[in-house]
Amino acid sequence: MHGGYNVIFDLFEKEKVLNDTHLIIQGMNRLKGEVEIDGSKNSVLPLIAATSLTKDIMTLKNVPNILDTSVMCEMLTEAGGSYNLTNNTLTLANNIKNPWFSQELASKVRASILFLGPILAAYGEISIPLPGGDKIGYRPIDIHLDALEEMGAEIVVTEGVVHAKAKSFPLKGAPIFLKFPSVGATQNIMMAATLARGETCITNAAKEPEIVDLAQMLNKMGAKVYGAGTNTIRIVGVSSLNGTIHDVIPDRLETGTLLIASAITGGKVILKNTVPEHNTPIMAILRKIGVQIEVTDQGSIAVFGGNIKRSFKASALPYPGLPTDLQPLLTALAIHCPGVSEIQDNIYSERFSHVAEMMKMGASIHRYGNVIQVTGGQQLKGSTVSGGDIRTVTSLICTSLMAEGQSKIFGLEHLYRGHGGLVEKLNGLGADILFSTTSYSIMETTGDVK
Ligand code: EPU
Repeated sequence: MHGGYNVIFDLFEKEKVLNDTHLIIQGMNRLKGEVEIDGSKNSVLPLIAATSLTKDIMTLKNVPNILDTSVMCEMLTEAGGSYNLTNNTLTLANNIKNPWFSQELASKVRASILFLGPILAAYGEISIPLPGGDKIGYRPIDIHLDALEEMGAEIVVTEGVVHAKAKSFPLKGAPIFLKFPSVGATQNIMMAATLARGETCITNAAKEPEIVDLAQMLNKMGAKVYGAGTNTIRIVGVSSLNGTIHDVIPDRLETGTLLIASAITGGKVILKNTVPEHNTPIMAILRKIGVQIEVTDQGSIAVFGGNIKRSFKASALPYPGLPTDLQPLLTALAIHCPGVSEIQDNIYSERFSHVAEMMKMGASIHRYGNVIQVTGGQQLKGSTVSGGDIRTVTSLICTSLMAEGQSKIFGLEHLYRGHGGLVEKLNGLGADILFSTTSYSIMETTGDVK
């Protein structure tokens, strides 16, 4: 089992190297071939948090080798656990002794707040700094805190740290109405409710596939969670949970990214290890603008680009709507569609930092609040651009794939928070992407996280 200061040091070292590295992309290559999709970042992070609900060994398979996975594992180590990540299989042994966490790690990812529910439920108290994560606008945690208070937690936030204690232990089940179907709050409540006394019913719950994946793993651990994937989730508390082995679902956002990259370049690509129905909204948009998409029973999606005929209108919404995380990628797509496309983000109204960078390449985009209008069809020119969050960086990579000449993309420390091998996958499909420094090899880990 691994963990501890050496790994944390390696983590910061990796980030530093990535910060000093950039991508050099030569545009205009068509993508062609087959590619495997990794396990989902947004699923594995809550699953790691959920492992703190049991003292038994937990095994997660199809785990993406990304920085955010390392941060979540290191947080558990900080609290007294240990882990090993080899060949995308993560084994965790959690015997939490100190349910408090450092600012250093918690502030790196938004998902750190997902330890709040399970650790409070399993240990009765927790101190955890406010979460960090992508800079994509205001991201409060009021829905998480209000719900846990209704379940019997006493919560104080002082100097950026959330201190929560169960007034009586275990927590008590409660009816919870969410004013917005927050993904993270639904996950935190579900996890807390598994070990609470009595029944919890979440109304207006989030319905994302990552919620269903978490419920399935919790149920394998002995929890009683009903209705995940609908807007009402009922959880009947149990006294303890056991260890289990669980496969992380494929990453629908990496799938969406590669679908868009293939369409933009007029490529012919088969994406394997996907759950096609998780990508219904993006496939519908692509089909509408003239891209041919074929889905097989075995979870593959074939995309045939090269025939983009028209512009589109799209609106990012909670699942089963179009994911906000693909909104910057759709902007890249819109640049290649003849006519004026309109894209709205109803989840993060400020998630538009990609726009200014794309305009440096010659894109014509106007923003009106949470709506952008993109006049597509012009040839872009390579430029030097930078992204400050995962999806901005991936959207800039996609934009550069069809720009004339060379682009330089900065912000790799964000890219690697969410994608372990996207550059290699694109190069395997025929893209021309180089790393600016040789120290990139530090990221070539296939075994342990460290
Ligand atoms: N919100 C509140 N109060 C809360 C919680 C959320 O007002 O207590 C608001 C947020 O400000 C936002 C909206 O509700 O406007 C949605 O937030 P949600 O809680 O659903 O998002 P999250 O759980 O923090 C996850 C993903 C994000 C993804 C969103 C929306 C993880 C680790 N993160 O965040 O993923 O954008 O759901 O689908 O699962 C990414 O992968 O790039 C990413 C940012």
